[in-house]
Amino acid sequence: MSDLYQRLSDAIASRSATVGVIGLGYVGLPLALAFARAGFRVLGFDLDAGKVATLNRGETYLLDFPDEQVAEQVRSQRLSATTDSDRLTEVDAVIICVPTPLTDKGQPDLGFVEETARSIQTKLAPGQLVVLESTTYPGTTEEVVRPLLEAGGLRAGRDFFLAYSPEREDPGSASFRLESIPKVVGGVDSLSTRLAEALYAAVVSSTVAVSSTRVAEASKLTENIFRAVNIALVNELKIIFDSLGVDVWEVLDAAATKPFGFMRFDPGPGWGGHCIPIDPFYLAWKAREAGTEARFIELAGVINTQMPRYVLSKLEAALATGGGELRGSRVLLIGIAYKRNVADPRESPAFAFLDLLIRAGALPAYHDPFLPAAPRMRNWPELEVLESQPLTPETLQSHDAVVIVTDHDSIDYDLIAEHARLVIDARGRYRTRSENIVPA
Ligand SMILES: NC(=O)c1ccc[n+]([C@@H]2O[C@H](COP(=O)([O-])OP(=O)(O)OC[C@H]3O[C@@H](n4cnc5c(N)ncnc54)[C@H](O)[C@@H]3O)[C@@H](O)[C@H]2O)c1
Repeated sequence: MSDLYQRLSDAIASRSATVGVIGLGYVGLPLALAFARAGFRVLGFDLDAGKVATLNRGETYLLDFPDEQVAEQVRSQRLSATTDSDRLTEVDAVIICVPTPLTDKGQPDLGFVEETARSIQTKLAPGQLVVLESTTYPGTTEEVVRPLLEAGGLRAGRDFFLAYSPEREDPGSASFRLESIPKVVGGVDSLSTRLAEALYAAVVSSTVAVSSTRVAEASKLTENIFRAVNIALVNELKIIFDSLGVDVWEVLDAAATKPFGFMRFDPGPGWGGHCIPIDPFYLAWKAREAGTEARFIELAGVINTQMPRYVLSKLEAALATGGGELRGSRVLLIGIAYKRNVADPRESPAFAFLDLLIRAGALPAYHDPFLPAAPRMRNWPELEVLESQPLTPETLQSHDAVVIVTDHDSIDYDLIAEHARLVIDARGRYRTRSENIVPA
């Protein structure tokens, strides 16, 4: 094994190793680009022929990445993409970045990870390094991926190297780029950990080695559960303080002046994105399997998924104050992406809110500069696809209420305050109170 270790270690140090990235989405594409920029030859794999063709033309499909960044690496022939898994024979290290969603029953769906592990196994060669990056429960690398990879007779820790390293990303943030975020790495043995560290050290400023793949898997879930639970806590505080006539945002401004022992989270209309509403339930499932309970996670789920209903109740009450009702009201949502300044609608609470509005007989529309057309509604497939409305005085005046769901920075909030008849603010965007603005 030490020969195999030395060979891959040298190839990483000299940048002669070829790096494979499987799954060229929000996680895989930035990673592939980072390795290409660091001087490696990178081969990206995806089932989506459209994404592969786009990349090979030197273009991108992710808003955060200008075409030029991809074009430069494609032109230099450091980056190319393929749908052909037979080409896994060309790579020395391969990183798995495929989706880990939940099933309809809210349980981990490892189908993509399993399928990928099976296709790697058929091409696995002695001395290769395999790293799982997809977010998942502790035990996945050892209990699910390892047996699939070993099915052909090669053994992890003897013939090939295997590690887990979670992705950390702050979508929409200019402060944290992949390169500046420390990367946790845990291998099935010490040589696997060292090789995975050496590989990532080429693209990130620091790596954090842990004793096992399980610790690395659990660290990622801990980070996201911390967020999920604190979002639920501050959402519950919002409801409590509102019933006491206390402004939660003013409370948070004050609490956040404490220089230690407090970390600010802001309330909103729920939770969203591909990670926070999903990943915690990977641990809840694993906890149940181990005969224990994940009560904080389950409670956070209950509170956060009820928040769109709370915003609706505030809207309904505010309309009633003016003698109106929800049925037949024209309601303009501001922002339908799951988070400020991103174009990602996945699991956005805006859709749960839209669903509630439609069920109540209201007539919804939206404005979101990042999403010109809304994805088709799961519960209302017959509904015409909604398109973003221009944010003009006429649009604002022609709606009975405007609801701030996602407060992108580029939106003109003064224009909204000036022309909307009623504003329901679920994000605390307006700090000075006026008659037509209702915090929610
Ligand atoms: N998006 C984020 O901000 C983020 C952050 C941290 C961790 N993660 C985790 O990273 C993983 C990937 O997430 P993502 O957001 O990049 O997903 P994504 O849906 O954007 O991309 C996944 C890609 O994998 C491809 N794919 C699926 N099965 C494949 C297969 N068998 N072979 C080749 N390609 C395949 C899909 O076509 C898709 O292009 C998930 O586990 C997620 O939880 C995501």
